[in-house]
Amino acid sequence: MSTLKTTPKHFLDIDQFDTATLRTILSHASELKKAGRGHAKPLTGHTLVLIFEKSSTRTRVSFEVGMQQLGGNVVVLGSQDSQLGRGESVADTARVLSRFADAIMIRTDSHQKLEWLAEYASVPVINGLTDDSHPNQIMADVMTFEEHRGPIEGKTIAWVGDGNNVAASWLHAAVKFNFKFNIATPQEFRLPDHLIEWANSEDGDITITNIAENAVTGADCVVTDTWVSMGDDDERDKRLELLSPYQVNNALMAGAKSEALFMHCLPAHRGEEVTDTVIDGKQSVVWDEAENRLHAQKGILAYCLDVL
Ligand code: CP
Ligand code: NVA
Repeated sequence: MSTLKTTPKHFLDIDQFDTATLRTILSHASELKKAGRGHAKPLTGHTLVLIFEKSSTRTRVSFEVGMQQLGGNVVVLGSQDSQLGRGESVADTARVLSRFADAIMIRTDSHQKLEWLAEYASVPVINGLTDDSHPNQIMADVMTFEEHRGPIEGKTIAWVGDGNNVAASWLHAAVKFNFKFNIATPQEFRLPDHLIEWANSEDGDITITNIAENAVTGADCVVTDTWVSMGDDDERDKRLELLSPYQVNNALMAGAKSEALFMHCLPAHRGEEVTDTVIDGKQSVVWDEAENRLHAQKGILAYCLDVL
């Protein structure tokens, strides 16, 4: 028996990929989207385990439906469904799940757990959101932007609000897809310095400000997210106070290009980070973003499971 072991094709973070691979994943995603339900089922007989240590609507349903459409199936584990919830180590869980499943997706409160899972699993591991990043979302977002406005390269995306996990993956994408990224956050909730240093070291075109109006000037797309991410509830009041000047409303959108898109990964907190007028307005593409989670993740699954 051969002892050769190939490294699984994980999908942990956008910054770990070259642009060509990310582009291949997205073109495949678009082809699958165009083909509708009629495409091939290359993952017949394959199983994806989905581990959720935090709530989810879009990620859970899109991975389950996507796997089914590719011919495979899923096993879903909530935080109390497995021995992980009772202290079995991530490493042992990774070793065991690798004997049953062809890939593992995890949504977790700790990026370190994702990395351990990837280190000890012998099958691909996919990041379904951690406290640090949300790469599947931003693959879907780049796809959505390009469907509406053509190549994202050279365009300006403005992030307004909390410098959170979703913002971090946008920053990764700005470097890899070569677009300008303006980030407006309060000082207290800025993106971590190491991310900005990485983007600068990669010649990213990144502008940081505390003023929302400055970030949106000239923007082709304005993006925001909740002010209180999962796990941040203990500082909810402070967040609502410090983030209130960063609401995306009609007045702020008026400062961006007239054809600027509005994006939000959802779930939205209407009246907090975004007003009804913006999220329900004609510049908003949030439902397309949500749909594209399905298509982008089918591209990611095809990459991880080598059926691209
Ligand atoms: N945007 C996103 O990841 O949504 P869920 O939390 O519903 O999965
Ligand atoms: N930043 C949010 C994204 C939810 C999809 C959170 O982590 O809760």
